[in-house]
Amino acid sequence: MTENAALSGYPDHARAVPLHGPALDEDPDELYQRLRREHGTVVPVLLDDGVPAWFVIGYRELHHIFGMPHLFGRDSRRWNVWEHVPADGSLMATFRWQPTVLFAEGAERQRRTGAIGDAMDGVDRTELAMLAEQVSDRLIDGFAGDGKADLVAQYARRIPAQVIARLMGMPEADMDDVVTNVNVVLDATSETFAAYTWLRDRMSTLMAAKREVPGDDIASRLIAHPAELSDEEADLDLGVMLVVANTPTAGWISNTLRLMLVNDRFSITLQGGRSSVGQAMNEVLWRDPPLRTAPGRWATQDCELGGRRIRKGDLLVLGLAAANADPQVQPADEYEPGANRAHMSFGHGEYSCPYPAPELGEVIAEAAVEVLLDRLPDVDLAVSPEALRWRRSLWMRNLETLPVVFSPTAPRPGSWD
Ligand code: HEM
Repeated sequence: MTENAALSGYPDHARAVPLHGPALDEDPDELYQRLRREHGTVVPVLLDDGVPAWFVIGYRELHHIFGMPHLFGRDSRRWNVWEHVPADGSLMATFRWQPTVLFAEGAERQRRTGAIGDAMDGVDRTELAMLAEQVSDRLIDGFAGDGKADLVAQYARRIPAQVIARLMGMPEADMDDVVTNVNVVLDATSETFAAYTWLRDRMSTLMAAKREVPGDDIASRLIAHPAELSDEEADLDLGVMLVVANTPTAGWISNTLRLMLVNDRFSITLQGGRSSVGQAMNEVLWRDPPLRTAPGRWATQDCELGGRRIRKGDLLVLGLAAANADPQVQPADEYEPGANRAHMSFGHGEYSCPYPAPELGEVIAEAAVEVLLDRLPDVDLAVSPEALRWRRSLWMRNLETLPVVFSPTAPRPGSWD
């Protein structure tokens, strides 16, 4: 066996679990149970290219991390294995430090995220719901006559980016390109860099226009915020907002639709389905949260966690879905996922999904699910539930496709633009 130089200083990683490639195809519940049984709540793992990290799967340990932001920080420059991270690999794309809110800490992070939160909070929730309904309706118009659709590619992945981009003040003419590029960025393919560059340019152009002529939109509110973000900070954070809003919210939509289509408890009928949407959405956050693992924290000093010795500069990746399934908090026989909201799926504490983003995501996702059920009341899976495939990803819990069939209907009369 070839020696892995990245493991020097990581004695527990002699028995590390590979958490990349086909290993990620294992059923998550079985994976988390196996890891807990064999390694405890803080698991030594190897990410892509054999790079070591700790996978935190215990609810209590995750809570500890969230509550101690000074011990578990967000600045990736402290990572102690950077010299072993390939320059062209996926980890570089995910963890390379950039001057965005995602890597900011302490007062700086609060300044940035406060501005983002306030800019988002200016969004009227009723108008947001109406906008999300309009976007959803128009997408359905595009395939309603076909009697079949892929609800991932043709629906869920196209909704949040369009809604958020409009709220940011982006022109209508850019919408198709925004949707395409946002999705390419998160797919981490060879085209990712080009898509990212396109989005950055577009954000800068938008922000320059808003500095000239402000409007009632997220971009203008970010520029005018008392936190006085520099032009670079504001441009970068607006781009972050667009990208990080789309995939989790899209996943929330498609995972909820999947649950309602495969599970008898949510059988989609005009009588039963509508009243269960909120319950199905909450159950998805417990069982199949769209961001199943959060990219992480770096230890700011040597410490102990879950019986493991963590060194300064070690990376901890946060098993949100794994913690949700922790038997310590969810005794199997009393599992009622719809009943409470103590899940970890938005994170917690200082670095969590910032207020009011979870609420905005929920308004968008709920509108998308409701509109689909309303427009296509006899929608059904086009394949057996077992044939549905999840994308291979440590971070996301997203379906490859969600093929459905339904009675073809005519597009709704009238257009919104
Ligand atoms: C309107 C939609 C959304 C927006 C604008 C948004 C925005 C953001 C932003 C800006 C961050 C970075 C915060 C930071 O690093 O300081 C973030 C983090 C995060 N978001 Fe959201 N988000 C949205 C929807 C969602 C949804 C639907 C989910 C999951 C169901 C989600 C889960 C998370 C998680 C888990 C984190 C990371 C928490 C951590 O590292 O501890 N977000 N979000």
